[in-house]
Amino acid sequence: MRVAHTSAEIRRQLARYRGRKTIAFVPTMGCLHEGHLSLIRKAKDEADIVVVSIYVNPLQFGAGEDLDKYPRTFEADASLCEAEGVDYIFHPATLYPRRGPRVTLKVEKLSDCLCGASRPGHFDGVATVVNLLFNIVQPDIAIFGEKDWQQLAIIRRMVRDLQMPVEIIGCPTIREMNGLAKSSRNRYLSESDHLTATALSQALIAMQKVAADGERSVDMLMATAESILAEAGIKTEYLEVRSAASLKNRRRLNRQPARAFIAAKVGNARLIDNMPLPVA
Ligand code: PAJ
Repeated sequence: MRVAHTSAEIRRQLARYRGRKTIAFVPTMGCLHEGHLSLIRKAKDEADIVVVSIYVNPLQFGAGEDLDKYPRTFEADASLCEAEGVDYIFHPATLYPRRGPRVTLKVEKLSDCLCGASRPGHFDGVATVVNLLFNIVQPDIAIFGEKDWQQLAIIRRMVRDLQMPVEIIGCPTIREMNGLAKSSRNRYLSESDHLTATALSQALIAMQKVAADGERSVDMLMATAESILAEAGIKTEYLEVRSAASLKNRRRLNRQPARAFIAAKVGNARLIDNMPLPVA
């Protein structure tokens, strides 16, 4: 496994494979856990060469968010990557000019709701850095987690709208035994917060069950989830049912794939989760 610290270095390393071997790319911000490792395993299954980037992208953090305290654990991350058979880690100190970029991407509509509503500019920052990373790595395929469904939907749309020559693959959310979606931010949780946080996935599972029993009304699904969350003492930032690809708001379930989305602050951590709802 090799570690490249600059764009020039990773470009040089990967040049030898162009047109000869397929390259799969897994962009991350480090602090790797089983969720990231599942993406790396998928990448290994799908391509000859696996590239993982580790870069905490300042452009996607708002003022007052956790950019400075976002966990940076490069040594542990590198050992995990090595054990998974990653070929290259791209770990740049920075990707932007000193005074910041003057040209960035802007995401329309898809970033107005869910996490985009409370994190203005966040998905512009994500799209800008993923575009930049794609330009540097030029992968054949790139792997993202369904855990960040809105991000995945936006990346898929970016690749479509800008005709980027890369195939996007989404992978299912990896969870703790108790259902809590794995996240680098789970380390901000105390033991009791951790227990409280399991109500997020429980609320989504309850919505799935009520929908599977034939309930079509989103209000009814929400009421089920809200009672579980209230019992756990969780106040949500959002709890919504939306179309899976367009992220449009839904009042009823029908044949169009829909998902339930939740975000809540538990202790010091802002947690998100989502699950598919059965189609009618
Ligand atoms: P990060 O939060 O490090 O996540 C990297 C990738 O891991 C994302 O595609 C995310 O959806 C996936 N992931 C995180 N937790 C997961 C879980 N429990 N199960 C499955 N996949 C999981 O997402 C980012 O970084 C950044 O926004 C990035 C795309 C790297 C751009 O900076």
